[in-house]
Amino acid sequence: MAGLKIVGISGSLRAGSFNTWALQNCASLMSSGMTLHMASIQDLPLYNPDLHANGFPKSVQTLRDEMASADGIILASPEYNWTIGAPLKNAIDWISRFPEGQQAFAQKPCAIISATPGPLGGARGQYDLRRSIGGLGALVLSKPEIFINHCKTKFDTNGKITDEPTLKIMKEQMTAFEDWIVRMKKAFQ
Ligand SMILES: Cc1cc2nc3c(=O)[nH]c(=O)nc-3n(C[C@H](O)[C@H](O)[C@H](O)COP(=O)(O)O)c2cc1C
Repeated sequence: MAGLKIVGISGSLRAGSFNTWALQNCASLMSSGMTLHMASIQDLPLYNPDLHANGFPKSVQTLRDEMASADGIILASPEYNWTIGAPLKNAIDWISRFPEGQQAFAQKPCAIISATPGPLGGARGQYDLRRSIGGLGALVLSKPEIFINHCKTKFDTNGKITDEPTLKIMKEQMTAFEDWIVRMKKAFQ
């Protein structure tokens, strides 16, 4: 299907983040029918119901609107202490507070990737992320799963993935994700 808008969200706030780099690599692994737009969670305040009582901050509204307008969302998250990092959890918490009908994760095809320097590639965090956005109605692609382990050996200094097996499986995920989006659109429209 042509003209699928994909929004990428990195859970890492770090310049030179392996997860942000992994997401950026997706752009060149997608078919010509998909276009990647990066959304940012850098400026989101910590979720506080007292702050929310004054309305959604502009950074939150912008993020929701970008997500809502996407045909699919790719989330890349570092694993911190066996789960997802606080910045991404905070973003999910804000997004979850929109009223019914404005829920950006509801019926939204999503794909997940993660990168860590350790041996597991963020698997524990990914399953928590899958569970959390699944609870918000996200339609999370099941396979192929992407756990980029030993990530320091798989990127060059400009953030390009150099590891052929990683590139291969990421390309397979992008193909599966496009197919998933098309099937979910048919199922839910
Ligand atoms: C607070 C903290 C906790 C971490 N916990 C884990 C962990 O549980 N599992 C893991 O594989 N790596 C862990 N790491 C290492 C991160 O995977 C590593 O810093 C990674 O590069 C972060 O992703 P980024 O490069 O996208 O910022 C942790 C790092 C920090 C700063």
